[in-house]
Amino acid sequence: MASHGSATPMTSRASGPLRGTAFVPGDKSVSHRALILGALAVGETKIAGLLEGQDVLDTARAMQAFGAEVIRHGAGNWSVHGVGVGGFAEPAEVIDCGNSGTGARLVMGAMATSPITATFTGDASLRARPMARVTEPLALFGARAFGRSGGRLPMTLAGAADPLPVRYATPVPSAQVKSAMLLAGLNAPGRTVVIETVATRDHTERMLAEFGAEITTEVTPEGHVITLTGRPELGHRSLAVPRDPSSAAFPVAAALLVPDSEILVPGIGLNPARAGFYETLAEMGADLERGNLRVEGGEPVADLRVRHSVLSGVEVPPARAASMIDEYPVLAVLAANAEGATVMRGIRELRLKESDRIDAMARGLEAMGVRVEEDEDMLTVHGMGPGGVPGGATAAARLDHRIAMSFLCLGMAARQPVTVDDAGPVATSFPDFVPLMIGLGADLQRA
Ligand code: S3P
Repeated sequence: MASHGSATPMTSRASGPLRGTAFVPGDKSVSHRALILGALAVGETKIAGLLEGQDVLDTARAMQAFGAEVIRHGAGNWSVHGVGVGGFAEPAEVIDCGNSGTGARLVMGAMATSPITATFTGDASLRARPMARVTEPLALFGARAFGRSGGRLPMTLAGAADPLPVRYATPVPSAQVKSAMLLAGLNAPGRTVVIETVATRDHTERMLAEFGAEITTEVTPEGHVITLTGRPELGHRSLAVPRDPSSAAFPVAAALLVPDSEILVPGIGLNPARAGFYETLAEMGADLERGNLRVEGGEPVADLRVRHSVLSGVEVPPARAASMIDEYPVLAVLAANAEGATVMRGIRELRLKESDRIDAMARGLEAMGVRVEEDEDMLTVHGMGPGGVPGGATAAARLDHRIAMSFLCLGMAARQPVTVDDAGPVATSFPDFVPLMIGLGADLQRA
């Protein structure tokens, strides 16, 4: 579980140009799914490039608790001996998902149609997040949840002994909700249908198809209609996890901000349902090239070359929110260094992440001397131009890896150093963030 023990304050200062190659870790979303589908497959699945962040390690431990054998062979190289769809054993221990909403929600889905009971918990951040968004639709299969008020962890989930197939339209744009329903649908007889009005990341659908499940997506006037045929035999020999576009966003942003920088960020997954940040950067005037486009592990991948750029504020279309939902914090940092205002609308889901990310960014940016406006569903950042942010303050990370990394990036271009009260949560998704940034030339030090 992440962020136990004492806080690790860290200070970021302006440095010379950032140069070199940034090998960011494997995709967090894909890594969780690789472990879970590996555990539900028959026989051995080999995984290369797995993210070894705490969130994913917690999911690996959960899969072991449900009876799969999970083995680490070397950096990023893992194998999972699965128990087959419907083969989960009842865990003897509480499932601790640490900081990870994805881990908790996807694992709940994966067990919800097996006749077993499991209790889930997590750190203070995860215990504050809403789980009813998955347990209510999982009840349609016949699963029963007993949690704290507001549907919060710790929570016990009793899986359905005789699951029914379900037809469900997601009321919020959430790949976690969609994925929980599809994973539950695996062990329901017949066809489970999930309908999304706003398309979210489709890693689960792609990977289920790679594992041999019968799954289709139709675009209809009702939305994206995803149909999964239950009780398949899943099997796969090897999976390559692309590098994480959400983690790449941090060195990319740093190179855009620090004068004379130029870096290469190879092997980044650019699934269109994840790539909205990179479209927004192009609109802001970023010097960003995609090269060597290819497909790896069923996902589109490219190498990114980024050079320092003078950015302009933009209005981010709300329709793009789902495809860059994790990148708004670092976008707010870029916006603070842009010329003119950047308006981000349609982002209320940010209030339900590892922290309330609208509030965390707004309060932190204000402390650094940046003017912001916000409402329930919107954040506007008034840009101060390149290098124009005063800085010289401490931002609260709030147990949120992306808030911590965003403010460390801000410090690389601010007039005065920026301190983050706890950089510990960075280990959930990007354990080598600090050495990687120092290797490129950044000045990050324990405060
Ligand atoms: C994720 C989906 C997103 C995202 C999270 C990872 C996933 O959450 O914020 O970091 O892997 O499915 P929601 O689906 O709740 O929007």
